[in-house]
Amino acid sequence: MEKFIIEGGIPLKGEVEISGAKNAAIALIPAAILSDGVCRIENIPNISDVSTIVKILYELGADIKYINKSTIEIDPKNIRTHVVPYSMTKHTRASSYFMGAMLGRFHKANIARPGGCDFGVRPIDQHIKGFEALGAHVDISGGMVILTADQLIGTSVYMDTVSVGATINVMLAAVKAKGLTVIENAAKEPHIVDLANFLNSMGADIRGTGTDVIKIYGVDHLGSTTYSIIPDQIEAGTYMVAAVATGGDVLVKNIIPKHLESITAKLEDVGAKIEEFDEAIRVCRSGPLHKCNIKTQPHPGFPTDMQPQMTTLLSMADGTSVVTEAVWDNRFRYVEQLCRMGAKISVDGKVAVVEGVPKLSCAPLKAVDLRAGAAMVIAALCADGVSEIENIQYIDRGYENIVEKLTALGAKIKRVPATLTKIQPNVG
Ligand code: EPU
Repeated sequence: MEKFIIEGGIPLKGEVEISGAKNAAIALIPAAILSDGVCRIENIPNISDVSTIVKILYELGADIKYINKSTIEIDPKNIRTHVVPYSMTKHTRASSYFMGAMLGRFHKANIARPGGCDFGVRPIDQHIKGFEALGAHVDISGGMVILTADQLIGTSVYMDTVSVGATINVMLAAVKAKGLTVIENAAKEPHIVDLANFLNSMGADIRGTGTDVIKIYGVDHLGSTTYSIIPDQIEAGTYMVAAVATGGDVLVKNIIPKHLESITAKLEDVGAKIEEFDEAIRVCRSGPLHKCNIKTQPHPGFPTDMQPQMTTLLSMADGTSVVTEAVWDNRFRYVEQLCRMGAKISVDGKVAVVEGVPKLSCAPLKAVDLRAGAAMVIAALCADGVSEIENIQYIDRGYENIVEKLTALGAKIKRVPATLTKIQPNVG
């Protein structure tokens, strides 16, 4: 086990290169199961959630070749089982995409209910509704989801909740079904468009992603492809918030500015100056931080995966902000950590009232989940003194080379064994 030691109070300055999108990578990699050829996927982020998914695919029998640290080739022809046990799925929610991919390919799948970050109950009723509508029989017993189908037939599926995971799973199951599948009230996140582009590059016929009606014309065969994953919108947003929180000036490179619009708008509201380029965005702040209200929403609304980072920023703003979490039931568990640093935040269910304080002070901290961990890093970068963050394995699930990237921006951050007790006064 390791922890971060961070000496706060240094404005971040310089350039940071954003990696490929985690939530796209962990959908595209299982999607390769559907191919009859070899899929080369580029711009894969080097993070533990991706390693977990690649390992599952490898253990199922796929041939996997690392071309370089961000490019892999997947040949699924030797996959010999359709069973994915709990020992493989417990670490990440994304393992649920093996349901749709295996069902689409083999018409059967036995997948253990997935793990992942704990934001309260994480139902899969909409995934199941979609599989059943396509003609699959679904049985849940002994912690396993058992899917079987004689054949999958195109259909109309209305999602009762806008769900990224269910939209992706139904796309995966439907891409080789007979006839047309229409998903209504579909999620519109950039990684859903990326998945469709990936599948279409293999020969699929998927239209309408990025809107709430997706049409999937089933095809018999998907072939080889070479495809590069989009940049990670949430990693980019996290560095943008860190730049604003520390009063810094950072050029965030290798991004798609359009994917960041809701984040950019809120950062401007709090007093940041933003300059957009074709594939980069410059973020700086020299004046005071202003209060602002935020409500998380499915894309194109403000992303729930940026809520902890943004709440941390608002904890240091002038005045009182209200943050409403409208996607997950329980995503404020990290607030207790911020309050130990001097933040004044009260949470009532899905609403946090954030009364800004001039400064946070250092404290021993822990990451309670991935984005909460990123928020702790931002808090520690701003705080007076040296903070420690434990449970950083959560942060490693989604942020490639975070220590190296922050160090290049001037931060004083070190990764050390969790057993190290003596805090160095200067960690740089
Ligand atoms: N929901 C249902 N029924 C379902 C599925 C979802 O009621 O069958 C509800 C959920 O309980 C939640 C809402 O719908 O209230 C949205 O859930 P969604 O299915 O969209 O979330 P997910 O697919 O499980 C992905 C990301 C999360 C991100 C959410 C929302 C992956 C692996 N995870 O989760 O990312 O918060 O979409 O954008 O793509 C992260 O990266 O830190 C992360 C947690």
